[in-house]
Amino acid sequence: MLSNLTPQPADKILELMQLYREDPRDNKIDLGVGVYKDATGLTPVMRSVKAAEKKLWDIQDSKTYTGLSGDPAFNDGMKELVLAQSVDHARVAAVATPGGTGALRQAFELIKLANPDATVWTSNPTWPNHVSILKFMKMNNRSYAYFNEETCTVEFDAMLASLDEVAAGDVVLLHGCCHNPTGANLTLEQYGLVADLIAKKGAIALVDIAYQGFGDGLDEDAAATRLLASKLPEMLIASSCSKNFGIYRERTGCLMAISEKAEQSATTQGTLNFLNRQNYSFPPDHGARLVGMILNDPELKADWMAELEDVRLGMLALRTQLADELRQKTNSSRFDFIAQHRGMFSRIGASSEEVLQIRKEYGVYMVGDSRMNIAGLNTQTVPLLAEAVARVCK
Ligand code: LMR
Repeated sequence: MLSNLTPQPADKILELMQLYREDPRDNKIDLGVGVYKDATGLTPVMRSVKAAEKKLWDIQDSKTYTGLSGDPAFNDGMKELVLAQSVDHARVAAVATPGGTGALRQAFELIKLANPDATVWTSNPTWPNHVSILKFMKMNNRSYAYFNEETCTVEFDAMLASLDEVAAGDVVLLHGCCHNPTGANLTLEQYGLVADLIAKKGAIALVDIAYQGFGDGLDEDAAATRLLASKLPEMLIASSCSKNFGIYRERTGCLMAISEKAEQSATTQGTLNFLNRQNYSFPPDHGARLVGMILNDPELKADWMAELEDVRLGMLALRTQLADELRQKTNSSRFDFIAQHRGMFSRIGASSEEVLQIRKEYGVYMVGDSRMNIAGLNTQTVPLLAEAVARVCK
């Protein structure tokens, strides 16, 4: 049987991680995988996470199974964090999942179960794994226009024009904030127009929100998701705690499904539980429990919010510094969009040849589509990157 297997395509982001590790140069710069790094290059365990772990060690006296949906304190905390009071929580079913990717996978499973013929619309470009998982699950996938490669901004009219082809029952996958890989985001007003179009078409929105707190602030980054939830009868949300709680390897995410009426919620919840059971039974608990503890303890929560805000402001300062350096070095405003982009990434519009040249000559690792992880920089490496980009990108 195993001899029937053929090699699978490598994930470009994870492949780059390996290439970087193998590069012997001391001055190499990793702007690849979406992991936050502080000025010393460390991905720290957040203070509130450490404190919650200590507390948990003291109070946890059993590791028996949780429910299929995971820890209720986590699910309720996530509903509040992402949706606040934009929608009646009685309409929201939620399950813990193995990371944001697990939430997406379970969302796709739910769509397949409810409407196997649905087409899932993804932005062009999107996080490559969206497309990869949909293909693996043999689901219909089409892309909608999103990013203008010349200006590195959202091409909203083209986006609306392609979404005009969405059919009733289709699913439109939107990034809730901090678009990955581009860093270019819709305004709240534009999200509202997209919501109106989705409603008019009788389609469903699936919001992937993996960087809440990395863009304009915790509430600001959730504003689009909340607006969509307040406007649409049904909606799915895949949310990740990997980045904003810094618990990447704990695999902590939450899938929320909003039903039109509260009476439908028990069946929706039961289906989410069933899908967890089919795929991995109980979701991982450690990370979810920590998040639940932090969100439900005012002191821990305040400390988490303060540390996250420092992280966010640090990334914004690097964006401003990089845009300034590039303005000086290119004597143009060509790269000013870097300061307008939000979140961990910016796609800078370099060709794949230019990306390779920058990697070869300067040891700077960005993804082949010219996505760079802003958090991989520090105040010393920004001028080096600006020099490389200004010299190579003609
Ligand atoms: C990324 O886009 O780099 C992150 O979401 C990590 C991943 O799993 O790809």
